[in-house]
Amino acid sequence: MQHKLLYDSKFFVTLLSDLTINVTEMFRDPSFFKVLREVVIPELKKQPFVKVWHAGCSSGEEVYSTAILMKEEGLYKTSLIYATDADDVVLDKAKFGVFAIDRMKDYTTNYRKAGGLASFADYYTARYDNAIMDNSLKKNIVFSNHNLVTDGVFGEMDMIICRNVFIYFNRDLQDRVFRLFSESLRPGGFLCLGTKETIRFSSFSDDFENVADHE
Ligand SMILES: C[S@@+](CC[C@H](N)C(=O)[O-])C[C@H]1O[C@@H](n2cnc3c(N)ncnc32)[C@H](O)[C@@H]1O
Repeated sequence: MQHKLLYDSKFFVTLLSDLTINVTEMFRDPSFFKVLREVVIPELKKQPFVKVWHAGCSSGEEVYSTAILMKEEGLYKTSLIYATDADDVVLDKAKFGVFAIDRMKDYTTNYRKAGGLASFADYYTARYDNAIMDNSLKKNIVFSNHNLVTDGVFGEMDMIICRNVFIYFNRDLQDRVFRLFSESLRPGGFLCLGTKETIRFSSFSDDFENVADHE
């Protein structure tokens, strides 16, 4: 396999996609998005322009959720969301913004639990088995390939959302990525992690202060 990996770039993409775990959903852990809306967004509203980095965004469900939330909070027009992943296969899906219609029922429930203000169906058009996300949500999202293990700092962010990615990294790798995030955030910027992830035991825990917990 080593020879094929070195000389066949398509094979590399396929293998990488097989090895990465891309499970995701819209408004995953609704309580997270509720806290985002109630605690973090009011702080971000104080900025004239907001830059958000979704690291390890998978097929984009989480990114569209943030875009919806920011739109409802009147923050989307003055924001830019960078959505990155190391896996081009899922990244292409994210750019496309088309999801299986049969997931929308669960996503609607998540959206409501997350404190959604409108009707979730307003954000997509149903066509056959698909839900096509509203184009207006894509306007301020930049999708690109970025590998947290090998690539560098991403710019001065106001918020980094990296959820359910650290659980796959060992301690050394976690520290490397926490350093990357620490250097990519402006002072006072927010780092959002998954429910099973914490910065508490890393060498960078002193750089951060806990603002909010969620279930
Ligand atoms: C389980 S998904 C999480 C998706 C989303 N953040 C969520 O919580 O629903 C993990 C994602 O991390 C990505 N990933 C894994 N290692 C990565 C790396 N070194 N750099 C960037 N992305 C990575 C995978 O490709 C996958 O899409």
